[in-house]
Amino acid sequence: MARNLRSNSYIRGLGYYVPEEVLTNSALEQMVDTSDEWIVTRTGIKERRIVKKGQSCSDLAYVASMKALEQAHLDPLDITHIILGTFTPDVCAPATACILQAKLGATDCQMAIDIAAGCSGFTYGLELARGLVKVNPHANILVVGSEVCSSRMNFNDRNTCVLFGDGAGAMIVSGELDNGPKIIDILVKTNGELGHLLQVGLEGGSLEPFKVGQRVTEKYFIHMNGREVFKHAVRGMADMNWEILKKNGLLPDDISLFIPHQANYRIIEALARKLDFPLERVYVNVHKYGNTSAASVAIALSEAYNLGNIKSGDLVLLSTFGAGLTLASVILEF
Ligand code: ACO
Repeated sequence: MARNLRSNSYIRGLGYYVPEEVLTNSALEQMVDTSDEWIVTRTGIKERRIVKKGQSCSDLAYVASMKALEQAHLDPLDITHIILGTFTPDVCAPATACILQAKLGATDCQMAIDIAAGCSGFTYGLELARGLVKVNPHANILVVGSEVCSSRMNFNDRNTCVLFGDGAGAMIVSGELDNGPKIIDILVKTNGELGHLLQVGLEGGSLEPFKVGQRVTEKYFIHMNGREVFKHAVRGMADMNWEILKKNGLLPDDISLFIPHQANYRIIEALARKLDFPLERVYVNVHKYGNTSAASVAIALSEAYNLGNIKSGDLVLLSTFGAGLTLASVILEF
């Protein structure tokens, strides 16, 4: 196995949280013209979690962050930066990362920002954290992916409302540790010219502002060309994963666990096939949570770690794809 992979970005702790309320396929059958059979065969999703009224993106992020801090044996006062990936912020301004900072009481935090990279929000956050620890080796950076996807679902649109769920995942990234789990490498890519394939909020932004008293239409919610997104997801993630493996002198056999974005089981299967990855080494939880966008791989990583599916010395590959279009591949060593 090719080792001696150097890094200055250490993983101090992981955490995740999904809301308690379960939305099953049979419950969706009562809302739109769909069936459990269609949803399971086309997506692999059996159920997803949905927030209760009043529970926001920062609330989910708070619980996931506290769990990551606990695993890291750190206190909110140790956090120097917060980077939060989401497409469903609490409000337009301030950033949900600032709201999270206040909820955590992380008063020594220097910078708290949101990033809008769709489902790659968490992995893009890891790339920013990697840069920040280079210039600030004492940093303890809280990277979070948190989504209340249900807030942007049109529950009259069967093409999209069956696909998504709510949840949050978090990681603490620190510099200046001698050993322990670390970020080995990250590749990121953006294809803005394909942005029209997946859009949210075609009204209510500066392009088409709301006027007082105006009624929300379906344009406020998620719009997606599912078939095209599917094709670009499989091709884009496969190419990028081969590229990061090659760059680091690795083969799929060197990776102990592959954690792809949890959007659709058929995408995961097709991707594993293109990478010659046996499905036993691919982590899947899309059947339980649906697509939780920026939270997806953060939840899966933390869940897999807590379940003992990741051991010391294992190499883990994360792969994301999202609105933008955005792509990222990440190699971690535990
Ligand atoms: N229930 C029943 N029928 C449905 C449903 C539903 N929930 N949704 C769509 N259909 C119908 C369509 O209307 C269509 O009917 P028609 O043939 O009469 O027009 C038929 O099913 C087939 O539709 P397709 O779009 O071809 O179905 P496909 O097999 O491509 O599956 C899906 C659709 C699941 C959306 C798939 O394309 C997909 O997963 N795409 C990728 C989506 C994705 O991963 N998005 C997120 C990535 S980025 C991010 O996470 C932000």
